[in-house]
Amino acid sequence: MSIVEVNHLTKKYGTTEVLKDINLEIYQGEVFGFVGHNGAGKSTFIHTITGITNKSAGSFKIMGISDSQLNHAKKRIGVMPDVSNLYENMKGLNFLRYMGKLAGDKRSKPELKTLMKEVGLEDAAQKKIKSYSFGMKKKICIAQALLGNPDLIILNEPTSGIDPESTINIRDLVIKLK
Ligand SMILES: Nc1ncnc2c1ncn2[C@@H]1O[C@H](COP(=O)(O)OP(=O)(O)OP(=O)(O)O)[C@@H](O)[C@H]1O
Ligand SMILES: [Mg+2]
Repeated sequence: MSIVEVNHLTKKYGTTEVLKDINLEIYQGEVFGFVGHNGAGKSTFIHTITGITNKSAGSFKIMGISDSQLNHAKKRIGVMPDVSNLYENMKGLNFLRYMGKLAGDKRSKPELKTLMKEVGLEDAAQKKIKSYSFGMKKKICIAQALLGNPDLIILNEPTSGIDPESTINIRDLVIKLK
């Protein structure tokens, strides 16, 4: 089954065409990635198919749901954005518990700790997010994207700024989630 189907998707900011007639299909169980230079439109593509910004033309379907009905698909999408506003005064574990409740996640505290371990934050559960390093903040954003067990997970640059060992762990996690 096609999880993401994009047809002739175009996005303009003013007169600048950032996404030009994009066509692609991503299937269930597939890990799909794209690369491009800074400003190529990768984040814009993610913002468009997750409803953060509106398309200019074309159409897309997420899990068979057409873009006009996107709200029905949103609960099944987990997104790690490129820039996140984290609640810096919360401890990592409490942050995930809070965000998990919003996402309807049923994980217990120990299960959330396991999730933190999977992204390489096992020692940071009781530390305030404001004390996290750049890479640690990225990792908690990855964990947050996995809350609610979404059917479609979108990670915007999940390994930039992450140390080599954690990069391998995150790659393994992605393969496992697949
Ligand atoms: N809200 C916005 N308003 C106007 N222009 C925007 C907006 N967001 C992005 N752009 C422009 O769209 C183009 C694509 O930006 P985008 O952030 O999608 O690139 P990217 O491929 O994610 O780059 P990077 O690798 O730096 O993250 C850039 O020229 C950018 O200036
Ligand atoms: Mg980007």
